[in-house]
Amino acid sequence: MALVNSKKMFEMAYKNGYAIGAFNVNNMEIVQGITEACKEENAPVILQVSKGARAYANHTYLVKLVEAAVKECPEIPIVLHLDHGPDFETCKSCIDGGFTSVMIDGSHLPFEENVELTKKVVEYAHARGVTVEGELGTLAGIEDDVKVEHGAESYTKPEEVIEFVERTGVDSLAIAIGTSHGAYKFKPEQCTRNEEGILVPPALRFDILDEVSKKLPGFPIVLHGSSSVPQNYVKMVNDNGGKMPDAIGVPEEQLRKAATLSVCKINIDSDLRLAMTGTIREFFNAKPDKFDPREYLKPARANIKEIVRHKLKNVLGCAGKADECK
Ligand code: G3H
Ligand code: 13P
Ligand code: ZN
Repeated sequence: MALVNSKKMFEMAYKNGYAIGAFNVNNMEIVQGITEACKEENAPVILQVSKGARAYANHTYLVKLVEAAVKECPEIPIVLHLDHGPDFETCKSCIDGGFTSVMIDGSHLPFEENVELTKKVVEYAHARGVTVEGELGTLAGIEDDVKVEHGAESYTKPEEVIEFVERTGVDSLAIAIGTSHGAYKFKPEQCTRNEEGILVPPALRFDILDEVSKKLPGFPIVLHGSSSVPQNYVKMVNDNGGKMPDAIGVPEEQLRKAATLSVCKINIDSDLRLAMTGTIREFFNAKPDKFDPREYLKPARANIKEIVRHKLKNVLGCAGKADECK
């Protein structure tokens, strides 16, 4: 089947208590690792491309890689989504260039400006069958060139969501309930430590999610910054020359719970980066004489596939759901 927008996926995810995985793609091995897992698990998927990914790999290469995945996986629905669209022009360029979904991220703007910009994107997108994600509230962490320090983030205000959704016409809303971008989601001071000395983060603000969901019944909510930063990969990085002290993510049980509620899209990027980097570091450490990129990219791709498979089955709950999302 051809690329689809996110409408049917979110409808089914909301109704049946699961979330669609939105995984960031930057190169061929990442696209292949994700989509091979989704194909084998019969799962719908969102492949998302950031401004940084377009700058790195080039829009055309990324679209063609995703089109190749669509051809190789005709039995699963795939969305091609712009992640954190920074302005109208970038959204327009992606919509005109084959994307089926875009995010316009006006979360750093005053409310009125966010509404105005998001509405403009929605009008352009909907006229072309493309779905739109907006955002209210800001997450800590780094995305592209925007860095929000811990402490400067702000939770979504539930009292704003109805007006935002009604005035903009967005199809889904990203909210801030304590997740953040990158591999250092919580400062050690915000956490406790377990008996092995591993940081235990504070819980997500399910009370805010609950208030938002009550105000927007049936409406799909999105969680960004939802990597869990698996400690086996942090260890693999650190045991092989890396330096990622106190890297920590969102516990998977909390994401599982969110997926059974109104959260229909869960964004995961850092976990795939960790799987790839850990695998390649370990390979180089064990085999310093090797220099053929295929030899280290092959196990890296295989581990991306395995981590995505795990997310589909045990975190998102969308394994086996491809057919109902078509
Ligand atoms: O939210 C950010 C994503 O992880 C994309 O990261 O901007 O470095 O491509 P990037
Ligand atoms: P992570 O850094 O937690 O993987 O979040 C990715 C993301 O939100 C992409 O938009
Ligand atoms: Zn994000």
